[in-house]
Amino acid sequence: MNVTLRTPRFILRPAQLGDAEPIARYLNDFEVAGNLARVPFPYHLSDAKAWLRTRRPNLPVEETNFSIELPGAGFAGHVGFHRGAQGPIIGYWLGQPFWGRGIMTEAVTASLDWFFEATGADTVYSGVFHFNAASLAIQNKLGFTQTGRSTLLCLARGAEVEHIDTKLTHGVWKAREK
Ligand SMILES: CC(C)(COP(=O)(O)OP(=O)(O)OC[C@H]1O[C@@H](n2cnc3c(N)ncnc32)[C@H](O)[C@@H]1OP(=O)(O)O)[C@@H](O)C(=O)NCCC(=O)NCCS
Repeated sequence: MNVTLRTPRFILRPAQLGDAEPIARYLNDFEVAGNLARVPFPYHLSDAKAWLRTRRPNLPVEETNFSIELPGAGFAGHVGFHRGAQGPIIGYWLGQPFWGRGIMTEAVTASLDWFFEATGADTVYSGVFHFNAASLAIQNKLGFTQTGRSTLLCLARGAEVEHIDTKLTHGVWKAREK
């Protein structure tokens, strides 16, 4: 789906072929790739181009992805949804130069506002590898609750890693203090 969202500080827009170079630059960083399940390491420009070719404009709404575009800096990271066994899953990453400024909290908040409204979904699922305190802090802050533990293959580490599974219901999202 072709959606653009405006947050107070930046825009979330559909991925485009021109994102390949910064995607490759920021994902070829073990501090980023090692916290994600499906990103190989090292990560090459060809990986970014191959992934971008899968981002066709007619994808179902549950497969919507956004590039985070900061004024002045351009592409900074990504937030997106995909379909999991239980329901929609949200995932996200930010290039390391942009960490620690509340950018992902702002991006995930806008994405969830849009997603619940656009899909009528009751629940969005997510989670973090057990060592990912920053991502867990974002999810705790936004109302996600822990549902259990599992193991998930981390491509960059080439290993199964303990994963904290989380979920956020639409009811909790609507009731949160803004
Ligand atoms: C995780 C990630 C998205 C965070 O992006 P960000 O824009 O820096 O996040 P924010 O600034 O919005 O929020 C981070 C929160 O984590 C907290 N935090 C950061 N490091 C922390 C740590 N080591 N322990 C506990 N909390 C931590 C921050 O204080 C902040 O919470 P606050 O706003 O309540 O102070 C970014 O570091 C990243 O892309 N990491 C690699 C990929 C990844 O982990 N993706 C998520 C996979 S589940």
